[in-house]
Amino acid sequence: MTLLKLKRLRTCFPTRDGLVKAVNTVDLEIGANEILGLIGETGCGKSILGMSIMRLLQPSTRIEGEIIYKGQDLLKLSEAEMRKIRGKEIAMILQNPATALNPVLTVGDQIAEAIWLHQTMTKREAREKAIEVLRSVKIPSPEKMANECPHKFSGGMKERAMIAIGLACNPALIIADEPTRGLDASTKEQIIKLMKEVTEEKSMLFITHDLDAAAEICDTVAVMYAGELVECAKTGDLFGKPLHPYTMGLLDSLPCRGLKPIRGMSPSLIDYPSGCRFHPRCDYASAICEKKHPEMVKVEDRHYVRCFMYL
Ligand SMILES: Nc1ncnc2c1ncn2[C@@H]1O[C@H](COP(=O)(O)OP(=O)(O)O)[C@@H](O)[C@H]1O
Ligand SMILES: [Mg+2]
Repeated sequence: MTLLKLKRLRTCFPTRDGLVKAVNTVDLEIGANEILGLIGETGCGKSILGMSIMRLLQPSTRIEGEIIYKGQDLLKLSEAEMRKIRGKEIAMILQNPATALNPVLTVGDQIAEAIWLHQTMTKREAREKAIEVLRSVKIPSPEKMANECPHKFSGGMKERAMIAIGLACNPALIIADEPTRGLDASTKEQIIKLMKEVTEEKSMLFITHDLDAAAEICDTVAVMYAGELVECAKTGDLFGKPLHPYTMGLLDSLPCRGLKPIRGMSPSLIDYPSGCRFHPRCDYASAICEKKHPEMVKVEDRHYVRCFMYL
């Protein structure tokens, strides 16, 4: 069953230098209980895609297409209706806990606040619920830690607190934006394990530039390049037999595969290269790649790629 379906989603920012096309005609589906990874180099549009779903962008942003969640188009909802969706149906765990947590409120109060937005209960009940959520993300002595402000939490514990706020209202879909960024290897491992546990009966859009984390946790992985998807497949297929030269390049840049960087730089999102956006950096490019923009094609069951080699 499909929980969320993006249809030709486009998100653009008008700027002095021109229109920044951060998300360009993305089609994507997340099923019930599915964990979908979204990977790609910094600046390719991953966070903006997540924020577009939550409609958390500045008013001047142009969002087009459809964001169908449980059968309704979120882009057609009023801001008041959207507030009922945020946190309760779809929760976003933001990229940077240091700025996303309120430094002057206790962590327990921040979770209780998230609960109050959607549920009527007494202060005491909300507090108990907050402690329960902190326990579920394995914060030690949750009764005590609920009364502490974020500066008393280590990096890993702050990330757990962020996850707790996200889980507070038991949403069906979680959008996690780089939840392991800036964490040391062992903390990262713990957070990934936790994310896997807490999303057992949920769906998640897992945004990351960490390919190992994606390989470990995701059912499906989508690869984004310069605002558009270039490949999407079941995790084993994507890492086992990548088809797009960009995906191959990302994998070759991993330490375990020799740290070979992809040559060239990510293109500007104002003026894309003509044809295939990846062609100036591609070792397999031929004449057509410069002239025509390839469509996404289905190569195998649930394996899609945007490349002329497969057309
Ligand atoms: N408010 C904005 N105005 C103009 N450009 C923006 C704005 N926010 C983000 N961008 C641009 O959109 C692109 C995608 O950003 P983002 O989604 O944050 O990338 P990432 O894949 O690293 O998460 C970037 O090139 C960024 O510079
Ligand atoms: Mg980002």
